[in-house]
Amino acid sequence: MSTGTETGAAAAGLRGVVAAQSAIGDVNGEEGILIYQGYNIHDLAEHSTFEEVIFLLWNGRLPVRRELDELNSELRANYDAPAQVIEMMRAFPADADPMDVLRTAVSSLDFYDKGGHGTDRDSAMRAAIKLTGQIGTIAAAWDRIRGGKDVVAPDKSLSIAENFLYMLRGERPDADEARMFDVCLILHADHELNASTFTTRVVAGTLAGMYGAVTAGIAALAGPLHGGANTNVMKMLIEIDDPARIDEWVDQALAEKRKIMGIGHAVYRTEDPRATWLRRYSRQMAERKGESKWFDMSQRIEQLMNEKKGMFPNVDFYSASTYYLMGIPLDLYTPIFAVSRVSGWTGHILEQYANNKLIRPRAEYIGKRDQRYVPIDERQA
Ligand code: COA
Repeated sequence: MSTGTETGAAAAGLRGVVAAQSAIGDVNGEEGILIYQGYNIHDLAEHSTFEEVIFLLWNGRLPVRRELDELNSELRANYDAPAQVIEMMRAFPADADPMDVLRTAVSSLDFYDKGGHGTDRDSAMRAAIKLTGQIGTIAAAWDRIRGGKDVVAPDKSLSIAENFLYMLRGERPDADEARMFDVCLILHADHELNASTFTTRVVAGTLAGMYGAVTAGIAALAGPLHGGANTNVMKMLIEIDDPARIDEWVDQALAEKRKIMGIGHAVYRTEDPRATWLRRYSRQMAERKGESKWFDMSQRIEQLMNEKKGMFPNVDFYSASTYYLMGIPLDLYTPIFAVSRVSGWTGHILEQYANNKLIRPRAEYIGKRDQRYVPIDERQA
């Protein structure tokens, strides 16, 4: 790990630079280990629920029963998005990208939370609960609105995972699918100082409010090199379409120096432990739906990229085919990432506020010096 003193090219993309201290999550890229507050992701995926993980990320320990019940009722009491926000969304163009809609709508939630700018723990925690409760409602409502369907009101008897699928489809998922989706939310909840989380900490470090910081996180997550990769994985699979074309398609992409979406990682040098779960889920969905094509194609791409480049799938690779067979529209995969990651973002923002220092690094200047001002009419083209 770096001391943080590298400059310019040596620290391109800030790789290896330690830019914050955090007790929330840690990625061991060499061994493929991800922990949240000391708990291995496999242990949490096996036994926990998304709501328990939210408590863990925000409080540094697992809740006792009473605390989990309290958090559940607070989150559920905040499932409803302000009616004005839903009305505003009705005026958006139907072809607006769901991540752009989410970014804009989440930003506007600030207007309806009078204490939303507070950076003390109580105010920030209230905003974190509202955001975490409402973000899924907004993402699901947009899909209904753009499709000309009635918005489905949240069901406060349901978990975040179940409620999201319910609001999207108008019917409850079965227990297996609900559990699978809940684990997907657990797996995406935090990932140390990834691009969007770093963004939220930079914004929070100025003592701007929780809503602004999360809005910035959504903007960062949308990019294809970050959360946007999952949608692009599915687009790639649909574009290839024929399993017989995969080898040729991958060879051509590599020859043209195009990146295969969902493959590679800035930190992991081995299997991303989240991909282990999502590969399993992609296979399970294939069995449930009797359609193994997308899983088989994904496996072949994984194998080729491992053989040819020594690279591994990341969290986005198998989530694509998992969500596809759940019938979720392609462009909602990244908003779903946000529905989960809001827990990690808000955890990091709470941590930043608790021990704040403005984040203000330096740039290595590589431009000219000693230039003299020349009046505009005397300048050469
Ligand atoms: N497909 C093909 N080649 C890839 C690749 C991919 N998905 N990811 C990295 N590479 C290659 C690069 O072309 C580069 O090759 P070169 O040295 O011959 O130029 C080398 O591997 C290093 O790439 P670089 O982008 O510098 O690595 P990184 O560690 O900074 O990249 C990612 C990390 C995630 C940005 C990168 O792997 C990527 O773009 N993956 C696809 C997008 C994605 O899935 N993002 C979600 C991440 S969770």
